[in-house]
Amino acid sequence: MIDSLGRVPVSAPALDVRRLTKRYDDGTVALEDFDLTIPEGMFFGLLGPNGAGKTTLINAVCNLIRITAGDVRVFGEPGSSLLARSWVGLAEQDINLDRFLTVEETLVYHGGWFGMTKHDAERRAAEMIDVFDLRAKSDVRTPKLSGGMRRRLLLARALMHRPRLVILDEPTASVDFELRQELWRYIRRLHEKGTTILLTTHYLEEAEALCEEIALIRAGRLIARDTASGLRRAYTADSLTEVYVKAMHEQPCPVEEAAA
Ligand SMILES: Nc1ncnc2c1ncn2[C@@H]1O[C@H](COP(=O)(O)OP(=O)(O)O)[C@@H](O)[C@H]1O
Ligand SMILES: [Mg+2]
Repeated sequence: MIDSLGRVPVSAPALDVRRLTKRYDDGTVALEDFDLTIPEGMFFGLLGPNGAGKTTLINAVCNLIRITAGDVRVFGEPGSSLLARSWVGLAEQDINLDRFLTVEETLVYHGGWFGMTKHDAERRAAEMIDVFDLRAKSDVRTPKLSGGMRRRLLLARALMHRPRLVILDEPTASVDFELRQELWRYIRRLHEKGTTILLTTHYLEEAEALCEEIALIRAGRLIARDTASGLRRAYTADSLTEVYVKAMHEQPCPVEEAAA
């Protein structure tokens, strides 16, 4: 909600997902009765094996798929509203750059899409091009970029319109060690400035180092959510990797036992 002065009360979480269910047309139930709340400013990790429902959740939050049931709110606004959509920046798992656009055009067009003036979009694009070290390629069309450059451009594009909630779906999948370090450095800086981050990754050590809280998701259900140290305690594990292995193979998990 927004008050008459256009302020958003601090109490609204960055993301509030209630009883979300997604059944695809072929009958696959990717998410069932899924609840998730992420406070503003948090660096949040979503972990789970391939097919667990992470991308479905993200697509539901970003209004890219029709949800079957449930409610999605972004900073208190319905996820489908224009306002909510303008507050979210998404770097999708699949690199989906327009092959006919240059680096700079990719960014400027995205800004225009989100209602930025041409002048603002051009300035912001220049800033992003410098931050992500794409200056030498700014007039090059996207098919001519290396894989690492495409990943950087994807992230730059997600940040173009200065979103309050940045969603990164496996941003470092098949990215080399150095670029991974670089992307993490950048994402950390973004978080320090107050941006809320929702990250999915299969790099568990990195999730442990970066994320203030972590949710484990298995077969469309949330099975645990805590700080890394809280999860280690709950699963009597020495590392997040051990937590993950236990959580994905144990039936039921400690959280379900506690609730029973
Ligand atoms: N468009 C679709 N149609 C049917 N099933 C889908 C579709 N997209 C994803 N799924 C299924 O939904 C489940 C969750 O997938 P996804 O959200 O991509 O998981 P993750 O991102 O955690 O790997 C999987 O069983 C997947 O096969
Ligand atoms: Mg996925």
